[in-house]
Amino acid sequence: MEKSRPFRPGPGDTWWLTLAALAFIGLDIALYVFGEPTTGWAGPAAGVTLQVLLDLSLLLLFRFPRLVAGLVLAGALLMLASDLLSPGLLVPERQLTLMTVPTITPVVLSQLARLMDRRTLLWLTAILVLCASRPWDAHWNTTPFGLLGTALPTTISLYFEARRQLLRSLRDRAERAEREQHLLAERARAEERRKLAEEMHDVVTHRLSLMVLHAGALGVVSADEAVRTSAEDIRREGALALDELRDLVGVLRDGANAGPRTLTDGTAGDPATLVAESSSVGIPTELTVHGDPGRISPTIARTAYRVVQEALTNIRKHAPGSTATVGLRYHADGLDIAVENTRAGAPADPALAGSGSGAGLAGLRQRVELIGGRFGAGPIAGGGYRVDAILPAYVPTAEGDA
Ligand SMILES: Nc1ncnc2c1ncn2[C@@H]1O[C@H](COP(=O)(O)OP(=O)(O)OP(=O)(O)O)[C@@H](O)[C@H]1O
Ligand SMILES: [Mg+2]
Repeated sequence: MEKSRPFRPGPGDTWWLTLAALAFIGLDIALYVFGEPTTGWAGPAAGVTLQVLLDLSLLLLFRFPRLVAGLVLAGALLMLASDLLSPGLLVPERQLTLMTVPTITPVVLSQLARLMDRRTLLWLTAILVLCASRPWDAHWNTTPFGLLGTALPTTISLYFEARRQLLRSLRDRAERAEREQHLLAERARAEERRKLAEEMHDVVTHRLSLMVLHAGALGVVSADEAVRTSAEDIRREGALALDELRDLVGVLRDGANAGPRTLTDGTAGDPATLVAESSSVGIPTELTVHGDPGRISPTIARTAYRVVQEALTNIRKHAPGSTATVGLRYHADGLDIAVENTRAGAPADPALAGSGSGAGLAGLRQRVELIGGRFGAGPIAGGGYRVDAILPAYVPTAEGDA
């Protein structure tokens, strides 16, 4: 059996406890008014005073269960002593009810299983059963009634407590199973990432490095200055792509080994470099920056870089011969990006335009929305195209920018 957790009463519990205490005070006063008073030296109200005090102790039941149990036990023993030694002192000689223990006894016993250990409860119940049923003076009136008022509530209370513990252990077990399931899924994902990293490393990196080598060789053997420059450009770009691939493979591997990490890890590049590159390959591009770039978080800066990068790549692929503008507006709430190009001045190279997977803009949208931003892309009047994004200053999650 699991170790039981302490019971914490909610506001509802406190409410009904107060109501029960008031109800029992009312009941005891009614019994006093309509029944007989006590007749001992302590006066006619001695019995009702004892009962009302015990009723009030009910308010402390959830906070001090042992104290209240002790008070009820003491009350029962006092009533028994009064009956045996000085009849009429604390219990009227002729009672309206057949109760020879405090009236709140059943309520207290019905709650104790969840408030105290079972052994103490059983001892307490045993003594109260004796007090209430009076086996030495068994009577058809008192004995069954006494048993009903003491043994029955304890039995019910123990039954419900056992049921509660069983349910809790079942729930704990279900939760544990779910956690294990989650861990297994996590491990499967890590494995997937590791395989992907291997694949990228073995296939893509291999081909790309061959291209870089060929371009290098072409640069060396060609007599034509223009070809040599282009070959050098290809070699440099290929080498940069290899660098980025290496980082990606590293991230995928690390992710597989060291838990959640995203592809956005790393330092952010400068959009100005992208703009310069774009201009140098025949798309005159103008950059305008407003505000202070220092205020945004690195994750947001990396996302911004990716947005500009993909938009400029698309322009080179799908709108050759156009001119472009890149606008970055930094403000307190984040960053607005707009990349726009005019109508294409030349037909797009089918090999280049058809080379993509068509997932560039969709991926960007996902990426932007993931960090709580908004993304839009589409043709504009005059035959051009526009990509814009509104990014927040910080990633709105606890771990996003840790
Ligand atoms: N600047 C642009 N001018 C004209 N059409 C564009 C421009 N940018 C995007 N498009 C159109 O939007 C489509 C989707 O672009 P997206 O970047 O998602 O895919 P892609 O560039 O074809 O492939 P990928 O980015 O996966 O290599 C493109 O196929 C193209 O038709
Ligand atoms: Mg694209």
